[in-house]
Amino acid sequence: MNKLSMMLLVMTLGSGLSAQAHEDVDFSKFQPKSNEKDVFLTIDADALTSAKSNFKNNLEIMEVRDGLAIIKTKESGVEFLSHMMHEEFHRCGGFMFHDNIDEATTELFNADNRALASKAIFANYTIDQQDTVEKLLPQVQASEIESSIRKLSSFKNRYYQADTGVQSQEWIKQRWLELAAGRSDVKVEFFDHASWKQPSVIMTIEGAVNPEEVIIVGGHADSISGYFGGASATAPGADDNASGMSSITEVIRVLMQNSYRPNKTIQFMGYAAEEVGLRGSKEVAASYKNAGKNVIGVMQLDMTNFKGSDEFDIVMMTDFTNADQNEFLGKIIDEYLEGLNWGYDKCGYGCSDHASWHSNGFPASMPFEARMKEMNKKIHTANDTIEISRGTASHAAKFSKLAVAFVVELDR
Ligand code: BES
Ligand code: ZN
Repeated sequence: MNKLSMMLLVMTLGSGLSAQAHEDVDFSKFQPKSNEKDVFLTIDADALTSAKSNFKNNLEIMEVRDGLAIIKTKESGVEFLSHMMHEEFHRCGGFMFHDNIDEATTELFNADNRALASKAIFANYTIDQQDTVEKLLPQVQASEIESSIRKLSSFKNRYYQADTGVQSQEWIKQRWLELAAGRSDVKVEFFDHASWKQPSVIMTIEGAVNPEEVIIVGGHADSISGYFGGASATAPGADDNASGMSSITEVIRVLMQNSYRPNKTIQFMGYAAEEVGLRGSKEVAASYKNAGKNVIGVMQLDMTNFKGSDEFDIVMMTDFTNADQNEFLGKIIDEYLEGLNWGYDKCGYGCSDHASWHSNGFPASMPFEARMKEMNKKIHTANDTIEISRGTASHAAKFSKLAVAFVVELDR
């Protein structure tokens, strides 16, 4: 992004950010207090030179391996790094947050997990559940998704450290509970995080036959606007990511309306704190890894309602995902979503929570709303509203259908 477009972007961010609305990242303002916590971040090694010259003595390079580096800085440095990555590397975030050096080192050395998550085959990818899928798909309703997007984007923000970020999670939990009313095999719980107030939300539909096999569909529930003062910024996050959370909520509604009782365990997740380094999903995925859970498929829905590409309805991200599962999703589209076009692209970095699952050795996919070059430019601003999608959720409905077919086919 050049300076002019950066200025335009920043000018759209709202009054709370006017102090830094005109310039490059001002690193002279980064003055960590002596009692501030050390934080460890993994970043792509190509960003090191720039990080080093900007952070000066507030940055320590701990380790570099396979094109990835661990840097140590202070907590308040995260916002500056995030801003720097966006401006200089055109990556929205492009780093992963770690509470301590051990976690960061695990991330650096888990090439084996990543290789497994990319290439191993975790499930039977035959498509043979036509009877069930063809009954369910016509029930997906864009109007339901739209009203959920409107509700979620009406919170001032869903920031991981804001009260409104907790309230929006309470809303999702209540909505999911309401949809599951009367089902003793379904629970909806908070997954609490020790370092910040916003919880993740997890719905579990216990499998009746093979409950130890787990199928997961998730998205991030938090939102952010600008780089500084996140807890008070206006961050409707309609596309990023009220859309994905609402696509997921519609999957739940359709399954519950049909009293769908799975063979395997199906979980729906709304992660906290994605926008600040995939922090919520990282804790959830690590806990699954530590518990030795048998996760056979993970779908991430992050941004589903902006149709940026003329040629494509759904774009599978190839990085930090499982190749065979991606192909399976393509086949599902060809089988069930007639007239929809799909293709491949890549984020170029661990752009969303699928990367957390991937790094822990689980098979993940990230079907996305457009190609990267045609992405929604309003994300992370006060202007990420449903109006960008002409006030409808017709694009997001395609992703609900894909997710319904994904869980039913994997659940055979
Ligand atoms: N939804 C975005 C990721 C995204 C943006 C994917 C544009 C494809 C196109 C996600 O919420 C996000 O903003 N992720 C962070 C990364 C994270 C490590 C902080 C980002 O890209 O800045
Ligand atoms: Zn985002």
